[in-house]
Amino acid sequence: MSDKAWGGRFDEQLSDTALRYSASVDIDKRLAAQDIRGSIAHVEMLASRGVVTDDEARAIVEGLQAIAMEIAQGTLTWDAAREDVHMNIEATLTERIGPVGGKLHTGRSRNDQVATDMRLWTREACDRTCARIDRFLAVLAIRGRGAVEILMPGYTHLQRAQPVRLAHHLLAWAEMLDRDRGRLADARRRMNECPLGAAALAGTTFPLDRAMTASALDFDRPMRNSLDAVGDRDFLVEAVAALANCAVHLSRIAEELVLWSSQEFGFVTMTDAFTTGSSIMPQKKNPDMAELARGKTGRVVGDLVSLLVMLKGLPLAYNRDMQEDKAPVFDAFDTVEDTLDVLTGCVASARFEADRMRAALREGFLDATEVADWLAARGIPFREAHHITGRLVSRCVREGLVLAELPLDAWREEHEAFDETIFEALDLEAAVERRDLPGGPARRRVRAALDELVSRLDARGVQLDEVARSTGAEAAP
Ligand code: ARG
Repeated sequence: MSDKAWGGRFDEQLSDTALRYSASVDIDKRLAAQDIRGSIAHVEMLASRGVVTDDEARAIVEGLQAIAMEIAQGTLTWDAAREDVHMNIEATLTERIGPVGGKLHTGRSRNDQVATDMRLWTREACDRTCARIDRFLAVLAIRGRGAVEILMPGYTHLQRAQPVRLAHHLLAWAEMLDRDRGRLADARRRMNECPLGAAALAGTTFPLDRAMTASALDFDRPMRNSLDAVGDRDFLVEAVAALANCAVHLSRIAEELVLWSSQEFGFVTMTDAFTTGSSIMPQKKNPDMAELARGKTGRVVGDLVSLLVMLKGLPLAYNRDMQEDKAPVFDAFDTVEDTLDVLTGCVASARFEADRMRAALREGFLDATEVADWLAARGIPFREAHHITGRLVSRCVREGLVLAELPLDAWREEHEAFDETIFEALDLEAAVERRDLPGGPARRRVRAALDELVSRLDARGVQLDEVARSTGAEAAP
């Protein structure tokens, strides 16, 4: 049973059932470092305002630093009877340094305290995740540099559609992830305001220096409204929404790795370090890591839904419901960070099977668009050109041929504009090179896109050779 920290009002102890139901320390002890950092900033500010003496502040700061050390070493015992991380740390402090420990909470409430802790924690987590995304992007850039000359089918509806360069496909993954990074950075920017000073909901009578605590904690400014400061968790929704988007992107990349490593595709061979065997089928090499990356997306989407539903309809300001924000936020970051690491490893170490990719270009009439474009370039309206080409394809299907095997007579039966040059148009390398627009798969466009990605990473201080060393990534294949 707890000695209630807010004791005087209560004659009876909290029931064991209620305590078990409401204690959160098992989960929120992850906020310990942020909690102590926030407390130190708060008490130093109290001293600067003469609310506590310098000696009192020093005793409290030193006590907190000692506790921080124990937490880092894993020697502090957490007590569920003390409910949460805040009360555990404060009660331990008072045990150690005596009643002066009780002055730490002057002009503060757990409501602005926990809101501050969550902002500090999530801000760091955003930075960590952004760094992991950058590492994945660096791997894509490294592998992409060796994948410019590798042609593969591009797909729509998972049907072979038009040829592209493997590097172009890897760069598409990079763009998806870079936007996720941007969304996280954006959420971080908006969350970077300090709730301290809002106290329970309506501020405090003590002459706090809110700008001082905000800047000591590297926040851009104090939050403008005390009710809002303790009463919202939209900053968590934003961050986890960005993570959910990222997880969905990762699931799509993972799915392509699963498909590509199947015998049906054979585009990629994953290394043993990221595949597993079967307990019954000796021949199997399963892409479990990519499958798990795909599967874990559900958790992150669930985390976002948990947060949104937890907040929906809550009146201002703080409500205990909000304690339920922590598990989904921690889980979403843990899951996405791990998934980024695992897929970075998969892509860094996979072998791309250039021959299989090229072989896949032979079937599926990936040159059909070239025929339609060839006619359209000679003045035949595109819709008609499309129709004519469709008839040629259909004839090939009937006769078991590819377009290049169709004799010129057969072409001319469909349209008299056809001449020998149509066969040059069917060359897939040339077809890719004709797609020479910014953002397209022509060699010089892909090279430019790779250079642009590398300089984007460079501007963020990402060292490609360091990433190559730590992941083992080499230019594909
Ligand atoms: N553990 C609580 C939470 O995470 C801290 C705030 C508690 N505030 C209160 N008024 N009971 O939300």
